[in-house]
Amino acid sequence: MAFARLSALLVLALGAVQINAAITKRVTCASGHVTANAACCVPALFPVVDKLQSDLFDGAECGEEAHSALRISFHDAIGFSIHGGKGGGADGSILAFNSTELQFHANGGIDDIVAGQFPVFKEIGFLTAGDFLHLAAAVGTANCPGAPRLEFKFGRPPPKAAAPDLTVPEPTDTVTAILERFADAGFAPEEAIALLSSHTIAAADVVDVTIPGTPFDSTAGTFDTQVFLEVLLKGTAFPGNGSQAGEVLSPLAGEMRLQSDFRLSQDPRTACFWQAMVNDQERMMSQFKAAMAKLQVLGQDTRKLIDCSDVRNAEPVNTKHRGPRSKQACAGIDVPYLKDPSRQKGVVE
Ligand code: HEM
Ligand SMILES: *[C@@H]1O[C@H](CO)[C@@H](O)[C@H](O)[C@H]1NC(C)=O
Ligand SMILES: *[C@@H]1O[C@H](CO)[C@@H](O)[C@H](O)[C@H]1NC(C)=O
Repeated sequence: MAFARLSALLVLALGAVQINAAITKRVTCASGHVTANAACCVPALFPVVDKLQSDLFDGAECGEEAHSALRISFHDAIGFSIHGGKGGGADGSILAFNSTELQFHANGGIDDIVAGQFPVFKEIGFLTAGDFLHLAAAVGTANCPGAPRLEFKFGRPPPKAAAPDLTVPEPTDTVTAILERFADAGFAPEEAIALLSSHTIAAADVVDVTIPGTPFDSTAGTFDTQVFLEVLLKGTAFPGNGSQAGEVLSPLAGEMRLQSDFRLSQDPRTACFWQAMVNDQERMMSQFKAAMAKLQVLGQDTRKLIDCSDVRNAEPVNTKHRGPRSKQACAGIDVPYLKDPSRQKGVVE
């Protein structure tokens, strides 16, 4: 039914745009915005992006809402199995069926962003929960300096049901359990590490409730490779009220290290993928973008989706990496020693 409505909109769209076919295939919407596909004009996606920026992201900031918009896109999409029998994937079920999915232990802390997004989702009205949630992730992530521009495919049908419990990995899980869960959703170990680039713009509220907002790296407002380095540094202390479940010693005051990130950085199946990200902004950006493109259409019939990626904000500037010497679990790749005397605490060798 959603698709029939979309087809009707498409017909309208063709009347409303000028097609500059002579030079490129791009079209100019009646609103003056330029996009690759006329179908992206009529559902008023450009105004929606403006609304997300003002109402959700405090005016295009890379703040907690942007970070959480990325996290919730993962928790929504991963409720899927390539073998069937789980949820609908990237369908917005975590928003639409929030009263069920927010009960799941792994969704701790997601309630804030659901409460933030739900009224905006309702106000916009015409987007399905899946399109809304995954557009918000693309827009919010692009607010972070260094982040790649994530794809946005338009046209997901409304979600049919809540995802079942135990699809979202927990920081207390073993590497085997984590990699098996990713594989069950269709991701190879290298793609799982690529997705964990997200922890470069991340903080924890519920792992240790005494220190909400504790970041996973020293540059949580920047989509850089710093998290891949800092997880390798020698851990020296816990940032809050001692050791919590899913947390291991962190190298820097005010920083939290997840047990899962640390174990993945040390495990022979993933250590080289982890280490290869250090100081390789291009690799991280391209691998993260590719893995996210897959994540954001999990469980969807992509033949029925339209590429409206260019409705979202422009690419922010790249950032350079910096940081002290690291512990190398992967013998094959050399992590360069980047001198920064102010940050030598926690150095291994
Ligand atoms: C092994 C898999 C993963 C585990 C165990 C994991 C675990 C966690 C935990 C425990 C938190 C902190 C929650 C809190 O205390 O508030 C967190 C935050 C976050 N995670 Fe993950 N995560 C995983 C993978 C991912 C992936 C694949 C993405 C996105 C593609 C992602 C994006 C984020 C973001 C952006 C935050 C920060 C949210 C904020 O600052 O508000 N995570 N993750
Ligand atoms: C959860 O979804 C319901 C509709 O099913 C909505 O009324 C409610 O406000 C949502 N909860 C939050 C925290 O936004
Ligand atoms: C800190 O941790 C101890 C146990 O390790 C616990 O008894 C105490 O309630 C915690 N304090 C707070 C404020 O959560």
